[in-house]
Amino acid sequence: MSRKKIVAGNWKMYKTLPEAMETIGTLTHALAVQSPKENVEVWIAPPSVILPMIIHNYHNRGISFGAQNCSEHKEGAYTGEISAAMIKSVEAQFVILGHSERRAYHHENDTLIHKKIRAALSNQLIAIYCCGETLDQRNAGQHFDIVRKQVTEALSGFNADEMSNIVIAYEPVWAIGTGVTASPEQAQEMHALIRETLRQLFDGKVADQMHILYGGSVKPGNAAELFSQPDIDGGLVGGASLVASDFTGIIYAA
Ligand code: 13P
Repeated sequence: MSRKKIVAGNWKMYKTLPEAMETIGTLTHALAVQSPKENVEVWIAPPSVILPMIIHNYHNRGISFGAQNCSEHKEGAYTGEISAAMIKSVEAQFVILGHSERRAYHHENDTLIHKKIRAALSNQLIAIYCCGETLDQRNAGQHFDIVRKQVTEALSGFNADEMSNIVIAYEPVWAIGTGVTASPEQAQEMHALIRETLRQLFDGKVADQMHILYGGSVKPGNAAELFSQPDIDGGLVGGASLVASDFTGIIYAA
């Protein structure tokens, strides 16, 4: 089964509008000079307030843009929230859901994340579903059980068609922003477990077609080895996606 590679940047709460425009300008220029391999897609999730301006200026330049979160609700009196329909209306293509920072600071759990994925899919957005264990959970030997449970709770109930619009990002919490990357072996064994879980929950086709990205201190120097693992279909990149030259290094490593 040959799957494309996706190199996605999660900008988190970094960059003002001028900073964002400058980085995207540098990036699109670099990608025009040297194209990524044909089976590599580049996605970026800037802060949502900046998203429409970036899309307006840089659509059709080889990058897909998306948001970092959405509400589970369709609309309503939810001050500060953004709906999936709003994200779709500015022609964004995907939304990141269930990031460990949302889980930690905004108390999101997999029941809520399931509803958010449903909202994204109802609005024809691709959902990037994030999962991953903490360091304590790994040290206690619970990491496989935790991730299996997360994937099962968040994704059970979707049909095969819906699953084709979901991307999974395995992001071990201990590797996010720490400079400590999961080894290619650690990442591969978890990705294989996630794929096996999908095989049991759905079927072989859903499992084989799913893009499973690795996230957690991906850098130009470690991307090639991570991305060459059989069950790793690209990366969800935080810090290194903020600097155009680092991000292109990772894109070309794919
Ligand atoms: P870092 O690449 O900075 O470790 O962040 C990973 C991440 O959280 C992407 O969503």
